[in-house]
Amino acid sequence: MSRAVCPGSFDPVTLGHLDIITTAARLFDEVVVAIGVNPSKSRLFAPEERIEMLERATDGIAGVRVAGFTGLVTDFCTEHDVQAIVKGLRAASDFDYELPMAQMNHALTGVETVFLPTSTGTSFVSSSLVKEVASFGGDVTAFVPDFVHERLVARIAERRAPDGGAR
Ligand code: PNS
Repeated sequence: MSRAVCPGSFDPVTLGHLDIITTAARLFDEVVVAIGVNPSKSRLFAPEERIEMLERATDGIAGVRVAGFTGLVTDFCTEHDVQAIVKGLRAASDFDYELPMAQMNHALTGVETVFLPTSTGTSFVSSSLVKEVASFGGDVTAFVPDFVHERLVARIAERRAPDGGAR
């Protein structure tokens, strides 16, 4: 069985992520979407929220499952018998950023990285841009699933509340 991992922060999942995950699911028997849950990094959504949103967003894509991970992505690949890391490329700058990581990961365990071009419609979409635009009241409904949009708008409003959305 061929198995690939799509690792990322997914804070939150976008239609760009889903584009890559859908393509990966056509190429591999199983795709594990691995959400980095490094607790030292500040995120808009907690790990369990990101996992739950990914599970819902990928519900209709056959052969996809979702997991959280800490530590090295290469260790995750070894532990889950994953042969390939899938990364989406939006632009040449993504390649410059991803190539040394792909080479380091290969040097560590021999795991291969497969780069997939994003579709033209999502090549400018990123979680960070979506969050920035939404935080200034911009319309990002075209870039995330509807239920994610609702959660995003609510979370931004919470953070603006006088108590800072303390949870
Ligand atoms: O969506 P992001 O923020 O680009 O995802 C980054 C992620 C989680 C894929 C990356 O930080 C990662 O692989 N973290 C695991 C730690 C690791 O293996 N680092 C060495 C990479 S060569």
